Amino acid sequence: MRISVIGCGYLGAVHAACMAKLGHDVVGIDVDERKIAELSAARAPFYEPGLEALLEEVQETGRLTFTTDMAAAGGRDVHFICVGTPQKKGENGADLTFVDAATIGLLPYLAPGDVVVGKSTVPVGTAARLSSLVEARQPEAHLVWNPEFLREGHAVSDTLLPDRFVYGVADGSEEHPAVLVLDELYATPLSNGTPRLVTDLPTAELVKTAANSFLATKISFINAMAELCEAAGADVTRLADAIGMDDRIGRKFLQAGIGFGGGCLPKDIRAFMARAGELGADQALTFLREVDAINMRRRSRVVELTRELCGGGLLGKRITVLGAAFKPESDDVRDSPALSIAAQLQLQGAVVTVTDPKALSNASRRFPELQYEQDLDAATQNADAVLLLTEWQEYRELDPHVLKETVAIPRILDGRNVLDPAKWRSAGWQYRGLGRP
Ligand code: UGA
Repeated sequence: MRISVIGCGYLGAVHAACMAKLGHDVVGIDVDERKIAELSAARAPFYEPGLEALLEEVQETGRLTFTTDMAAAGGRDVHFICVGTPQKKGENGADLTFVDAATIGLLPYLAPGDVVVGKSTVPVGTAARLSSLVEARQPEAHLVWNPEFLREGHAVSDTLLPDRFVYGVADGSEEHPAVLVLDELYATPLSNGTPRLVTDLPTAELVKTAANSFLATKISFINAMAELCEAAGADVTRLADAIGMDDRIGRKFLQAGIGFGGGCLPKDIRAFMARAGELGADQALTFLREVDAINMRRRSRVVELTRELCGGGLLGKRITVLGAAFKPESDDVRDSPALSIAAQLQLQGAVVTVTDPKALSNASRRFPELQYEQDLDAATQNADAVLLLTEWQEYRELDPHVLKETVAIPRILDGRNVLDPAKWRSAGWQYRGLGRP
C-alpha cells in the first residue's frame, strides 16, 4: 500500500520504517529539516535499538523516503498522524497544536477513499472533532483512531509484533470500510496472531490513556508499598515477587524505585485528569492525582536518603549519578527522574557528576549546570556516594570490588533496586535500596 506518515519522532520514524519493512511504500513527513536529513541518510535522530539497521535495510529497497513537503502525501491511500501531544505549558492538558496542524495540512491532499489514521495519544473527543474536519473537506475519506502502544527501547519489535491492534471507527462496526484497509495494512502481524478489536472512536482514544494510567498506577502502588516497607522494616522487592506470583496481579511493572518518567506516562495521566474535568467526570480520576504525587515524592525521598547516606549534609559532597535517561536503552531525558534528582542534589550544594551510555548530550542540553562524564571510571573517581538511577545493564553488572578502588567512600544508593545488597555489603559498601531494610 502507498502510505504517508506525518510526524517523524519516536513514534513516526519507527512506524514509517516498520511499515516499509511490512512491504508498504512509505513517505515520512516532518517539518524538522534536521530530522528529515538524518532519516534520509538512514540515521536515527535518537537512540532506539535496531532502528538504524532497519532504516538502512528498508531504504535500500526504495520503499522508504522522507521529506518536509506535505504535498508528498498526495496520491497515497493511508495517512498516519504520528505527531507529539506534549503537556501544555503551565497546565495539565495536552497541547494539540501539532495534531491539528498535521490534520489541517493534510486536508488539501485527501482523495475519495483515503484513510487518515490517528496514532498520537489524544484526549478523548479529539478524533470526532478531526473527523468532522476531514469530512467537511473530503466527504468520501475516513478518519480512524489506531492508538500506538510501543515502548521506547523496544519500539521496533513492539510495532512489528504488537500485543493488539485497536481500530476506532466512526460507527464502531466491523463493516466500516476502513477496517478492511487497516487489515490489509497490518496483514503480516495479523496473520502472526496479533488480535484486533474494532471499537468506536472515543473508546479507542480511551484505551490508550487508560492503559498508560493503569501502568502508572501499578508503579505508584508498588512505590507506596516501598514507603510502607521502609517504615516497617520490610523488603518491597520480596513483597513484589510474592504478590506478583498471583497471575491476577503479575510481577511486571512492580519494580519499586525512583518512579516513572519519560514523554508519556507523566503527561498522559495529567492530560487524562484534565480531560475528565472538562467532561464533568473529574471524580473518576482523582486517584491519579495521588498516583502522580506518590511518583514525585520518590524524587525528594532519594535526595533525603542521599543526605543521610552522606552523613547528614550534602554541601560539597561529590555525588556520581549513574544514568540520565528516563529508562535504559533510550537516550530520552524527558521528565527523567534521574536527572531531576541530580539537579535537586546540585541545588542543595552537592557536586554532581552524571554519566550515561547514551543520554549525555540530551541531558546536557536540558540541565547545562550539571557536570557530565562519559567515562564511568572518571565519573566515579573520588565520589563520596554513587547513585544508580537508570538501570542500564552495565550498571547492573558493576563489580563492587573494582568500583571500590575508584571512589573516595564506598556508599551506594540503588535507586532501581537492581543490585544484590549482600554482595555489595560484603565487598565493604554501605548499601541503601528503596523500600528495603
Ligand atoms: C509507555 C508505555 O509503557 C507504552 O505502552 C506506551 O505506548 C508509551 O508509554 C506511550 O504512551 O507512547 P515508555 O514511556 O516508553 O512506554 O516507558 P515504560 O517502559 O512504560 O516506562 C515508563 C517509566 O516507568 C520509566 O521511567 C521506567 O523506569 C518506569 N518504571 C517502569 C518503573 O519505575 N517501574 C516499573 O516497574 C516499570
